[in-house]
Amino acid sequence: AIERTFSILKPDATERNLTGAINALIEKAGLRIVAQKRIRMTREQAGTFYAVHKERPFFGELVDFMTSGPVVVQVLEGENAVLKHRDVMGATDPSKAADGTIRKLHAKSIGENSVHGSDAPETAAIEIAQFFSGNEIVG
Ligand code: CMP
Repeated sequence: AIERTFSILKPDATERNLTGAINALIEKAGLRIVAQKRIRMTREQAGTFYAVHKERPFFGELVDFMTSGPVVVQVLEGENAVLKHRDVMGATDPSKAADGTIRKLHAKSIGENSVHGSDAPETAAIEIAQFFSGNEIVG
């Protein structure tokens, strides 16, 4: 089915001027960028977005990192978009990511791992709604 997923190009990617290179990989994977904006996340936005991880030991570090520089938030659309995007991102830990994936090519570490993608269509809907209104998404 045609799905939408939520994507973030993280501060380590914007800092190294990699947004175009990563978007090229996303588009080459067959996904369409139907919404996109560059923002600076507030600590409140990052905390809400990663609320599921708030008891993890890396939560503070994660909020610090995600608010340390600009990010690009996106809505991606395509056939099986959630899984397709997870495939092109590669494993969370770049040392375990498959060849040719965004994280294998570009990520610096498990924390500074260049990109985020939703883990399921239900999560995608919640994450998209946190950052985009309906009229900002043009399919
Ligand atoms: P993301 O897909 O954005 O969702 C949660 C993030 O937590 C994950 O990517 C990683 O960047 C980050 N993360 C996961 N494990 C660790 C860890 N052990 N140390 C630091 N950050 C982590």
